Amino acid sequence: MRHIRSIYLFCCIVISVRGGASKLLEERELTINCSNMSLRKVPTDLTPSATMLDLSYNLLFQLQRSDFHSVSKLKVLILCHNRIQELDIRTFEFNTELRYLDVSYNRLKMVTWYSLAGLRHLDLSFNDFDTVPICEETGNMSHLEILGLSGAKIRKSDFQKISHLHLNTVFLGLRTLSHYEEGSLPILNTTKLHIVLPMNTNFWVLLRDGIKTSKILEMTNIDGKSQSTSYETQQNLTLEKAKTSILLLNKVDLLWGDLLLIFQFVWHTSVEYFQVQHVTFGGKVYPDHNSFDYSNTVMRTIKLEHVHFRIFSIPQERVYLLFTKMDIENLTISDAQMPHMLFPIYPMRFKYLNFANNILTDDVFKTPIQLPHLKTLILKDNKLETLSLVSCFASNTSLKHLDLSQNLLQHENDENCLWPETLISMNLSSNKFTDSVFRCLPRNIQILDMNDNKIQTVPKEIIHLTSLRELNLAFNLLTDLPGCSHFGRLSVLNVEMNLILSPSLDFFQSCQEVKILNAGRNPFRCTCELRDFIQLEKYSEGMMVGWSDSYICEYPLNLKGTQLKDVHLPELSCNIALLIVTIVVIMLVLGMAVAFCCFHFDLPWYLRMLGQWAQTWHRVRKTTQRQLKRNIQFHVFISYSEHDSAWVKHALIPNLEKEDGSILICFHEGNSDPGKNITEDVIKCIEKSYKSIFVLSPNFVQSEWCHYELYFAHHNLFHESSDNIIIILLEPIPLYCIPIRYPKLKALMEKKAYLEWPKDRRKCGLFWTNLRAAIHVNLLETRQMCELQTFTELNEGSRGSTISLVRTDCL
Ligand SMILES: *[C@@H]1O[C@H](CO)[C@@H](O)[C@H](O)[C@H]1NC(C)=O
Ligand SMILES: *[C@@H]1O[C@H](CO)[C@@H](O)[C@H](O)[C@H]1NC(C)=O
Ligand SMILES: *[C@@H]1O[C@H](CO)[C@@H](O)[C@H](O)[C@H]1NC(C)=O
Ligand SMILES: *[C@@H]1O[C@H](CO)[C@@H](O)[C@H](O)[C@H]1NC(C)=O
Ligand SMILES: *[C@@H]1O[C@H](CO)[C@@H](O)[C@H](O)[C@H]1NC(C)=O
Ligand SMILES: *[C@@H]1O[C@H](CO)[C@@H](O)[C@H](O)[C@H]1NC(C)=O
Ligand SMILES: *[C@@H]1O[C@H](CO)[C@@H](O)[C@H](O)[C@H]1NC(C)=O
Ligand SMILES: *[C@@H]1O[C@H](CO)[C@@H](O)[C@H](O)[C@H]1NC(C)=O
Repeated sequence: MRHIRSIYLFCCIVISVRGGASKLLEERELTINCSNMSLRKVPTDLTPSATMLDLSYNLLFQLQRSDFHSVSKLKVLILCHNRIQELDIRTFEFNTELRYLDVSYNRLKMVTWYSLAGLRHLDLSFNDFDTVPICEETGNMSHLEILGLSGAKIRKSDFQKISHLHLNTVFLGLRTLSHYEEGSLPILNTTKLHIVLPMNTNFWVLLRDGIKTSKILEMTNIDGKSQSTSYETQQNLTLEKAKTSILLLNKVDLLWGDLLLIFQFVWHTSVEYFQVQHVTFGGKVYPDHNSFDYSNTVMRTIKLEHVHFRIFSIPQERVYLLFTKMDIENLTISDAQMPHMLFPIYPMRFKYLNFANNILTDDVFKTPIQLPHLKTLILKDNKLETLSLVSCFASNTSLKHLDLSQNLLQHENDENCLWPETLISMNLSSNKFTDSVFRCLPRNIQILDMNDNKIQTVPKEIIHLTSLRELNLAFNLLTDLPGCSHFGRLSVLNVEMNLILSPSLDFFQSCQEVKILNAGRNPFRCTCELRDFIQLEKYSEGMMVGWSDSYICEYPLNLKGTQLKDVHLPELSCNIALLIVTIVVIMLVLGMAVAFCCFHFDLPWYLRMLGQWAQTWHRVRKTTQRQLKRNIQFHVFISYSEHDSAWVKHALIPNLEKEDGSILICFHEGNSDPGKNITEDVIKCIEKSYKSIFVLSPNFVQSEWCHYELYFAHHNLFHESSDNIIIILLEPIPLYCIPIRYPKLKALMEKKAYLEWPKDRRKCGLFWTNLRAAIHVNLLETRQMCELQTFTELNEGSRGSTISLVRTDCL
């Protein structure tokens, strides 16, 4: 017991939740998978809530009554591939929800029945029953849909017990068949019957009865070693009794004659669809195929797949013609190593022909073939070489779909192509086509698959494929995205795995209709040219298949391996026009800003002032000491016209003293009489002042300047040390207004060596700063003159003029 418990620990328990959260508890599905664990007994402590239990591929040989009592919720129980010899269905008495019970591939000899009403799927196939294990109780399982059975003896009486059940599928998995009572199978009422025959069985009787039993009949393992019945005996099967319309034979190994016999037999039954897979045939091929009776059939589709033969010489023509003369709707002979195919010389009714995976060559089309109704032709994976030959054949058909993939096809420019107007889809993938293939395409083509060829470009001078919707050019040698000028309605384009570095503009201009584009895995060069392409995904999300994993830069090397979506290509660096426009705009704005400053804030005035201020500072530093050697007593001498006295007293003086509050000023307020000479005092004043300020205004020029003009000329002071003179231009004086007799003044004005009193009040600050800087000097020697009092002295010589000596801190 401990042993079993420890094994149980290895059983894999899977919980899967189905449905919404509300139904969580009821809907919970618990799977216990103890498959392939060498179990000899059913584990005892199974999770009670388990709904699925897989005990397949173990060594179970006996089931106990109590084995499954604990798992009362069980719905699915798999016990296949064990060694169970006896089954009592009452074991599952308490598993009322059991729907699916698989006890196939055991060694069952006996079943004790009990009616499990809920069971839908019961598989007892591949067991060792002597007779088919059907009881009265089986007939009471009214929900049964799929029933798997086996038994060495099949008798009518057994099947009769379930004849009233409407089954979906009956599966007869037979290990041996010693006796079959004819007419047993047709007793069953089932849609599908699948019989897996044991070796060396006479399949004929089962085939005949099977065809009378179900709509779909499948038979596996048909071999003809115990072949006995002759063709004639099969002929009497009347169509009324036959039910099968779909017949599938699998793993058939027969002599050619027997195979032919089966075809002939099936031909006259109700079978419409006949599929034979994995056929091997040997023996002698009858040279006389005319014995096949093509009359009286409902057959529409024959499908032969994976055909092998053990004969070395086959009269090929006979075999091919046997099938092509059947003249049904659909014929498939694939993977049959056929090197050739022949058709009768008269028109045939085939609509669908599939000869895929053979070794057909161009020779197929060298004889005229008349298939006026052909809609679909599949010649995938053959050895065809010339596309124009196929087109020539197709032109006489009403072909819609043509699959020529995986051949050796090529097209030479000088060959003529004649495709039917009806052709709308063509698969030319995995061939040897180059650019020239575009000259051999049907006009109305809608879907064209040309992946895996050697196409380098889509030539410019091809016919317009106005209906083309899907074009696959993946795995070619394209270096650019094709434009759509020749296929205006293209909506799906695949150019994966080509050599596209950067898609050209032509694509974006002409391919407006393209909705799905796969251009992944190309060696993209991530430069400005790629911007449009990257934008494409941003603006039409979901258009690019495989975005963004398959879109990776190859060049330049520093971006190699970067995904396109991560590449940043700024608009400005890529768009030259925009770059130029931006620069021009910036320059314009700057220019306008400068102009605005000039006009609105009078920038040149500020600049000039600043220049003067800097010059003054420089000069002051250089010359202070030299100046001081002169016996300086005043900081400044101010001369002005009496008209300007208000400005001098209320603006100039208060502002001059602002900085250190103590400066000595010598005033000279001129009167309006120009005839009077300049007094000695004034001249003394000038000489003892560090700076002389002349407040220039038209009045001043009129009345006062004449004194100074003479004085300056005489003393030459003005020339040597014009540094000492500060001219404040209170009002603008046009040059022409200055009389000729004042050359000095003219020179000063021309040199613009004056400070201009700004009309704009905001500029005054700078003006004063500048002025203060000019008269800034430390008058050490003048300290003792502090006792000097402000005085005003009336002078007889210059009546009306006033000279004032002012200590401004005493004002
Ligand atoms: C149990 O596990 C085996 C592989 O070990 C798997 O083949 C089988 O499908 C599983 N059974 C179920 C019911 O999932
Ligand atoms: C069972 O397990 C063995 C190895 O443990 C493995 O070789 C075998 O294929 C398994 N069989 C099945 C049916 O899973
Ligand atoms: C089958 O079911 C019917 C009623 O559903 C019942 O009368 C009959 O006894 C059952 N037969 C067996 C063998 O259980
Ligand atoms: C078989 O079952 C179907 C329903 O599934 C029914 O219509 C048909 O009549 C039955 N045939 C026989 C022969 O009982
Ligand atoms: C087949 O039918 C023919 C008559 O059409 C009859 O002579 C022959 O005995 C029948 N064969 C079988 C096996 O029923
Ligand atoms: C023939 O084959 C085509 C394509 O597989 C299918 O659509 C058509 O239904 C088939 N016709 C018949 C009669 O089986
Ligand atoms: C086309 O079909 C006509 C009859 O329908 C036939 O005469 C002619 O030979 C065929 N041409 C080709 C190329 O098969
Ligand atoms: C064309 O044929 C190839 C291989 O034969 C197949 O993979 C592909 O899907 C086909 N293309 C179309 C459009 O059916």
